[in-house]
Amino acid sequence: MEREKKHIFLIGFMGSGKTSLGKLLARKLNFDFLDTDKLIEEQEKSSIQEIFNSKGESYFRELEHQLLKNISENRFATVFSTGGGMPIFNENITLMKKIGTVVFIDVPVGMLYFRLKNDVKRPLLASQKDLFEYIKITLTERLPIYKQANYTINGSLNKSELVEELIRFYSQNENSGLTAKE
Ligand code: S3P
Repeated sequence: MEREKKHIFLIGFMGSGKTSLGKLLARKLNFDFLDTDKLIEEQEKSSIQEIFNSKGESYFRELEHQLLKNISENRFATVFSTGGGMPIFNENITLMKKIGTVVFIDVPVGMLYFRLKNDVKRPLLASQKDLFEYIKITLTERLPIYKQANYTINGSLNKSELVEELIRFYSQNENSGLTAKE
């Protein structure tokens, strides 16, 4: 019999609302909540921006990969909000699907642009001359991987609608986080 997939991984582009949705979902399901960027910042005692600047993107991608490999299947059921590039590199999406249910928050380019246009923290956005074009191209490249998620939700809905939809999804699925709730 297949092991219950109790963790939930929220994936999606920068600005798709993974962290705020993740916190709310975890509260409703009585799961733990963890943010992978935050875990890396704590571990490195350095911001994501500083890590990119001083050690480079590939070093950061390796940290993401190691972090994922170290997540125990047996830890208390957890909702993870993940960095936007995490599922894209090192076959991380496959690892996530092994130990959890992966949910892609699908947000249209225009909405992402609106949310990201004044961002000053994300290193990948800092040097973009045409931010809209960058988002459009990068999202198009990443979509085939994001879409390998177990479930895709329409990220244009508001937060409480999204949470309701996810809870409905889990309650209909045998191997879901809800069935794993103790
Ligand atoms: C990245 C997304 C960021 C962070 C890093 C790289 C990406 O996380 O991990 O700046 O490649 O899309 P958020 O999606 O939480 O912004």
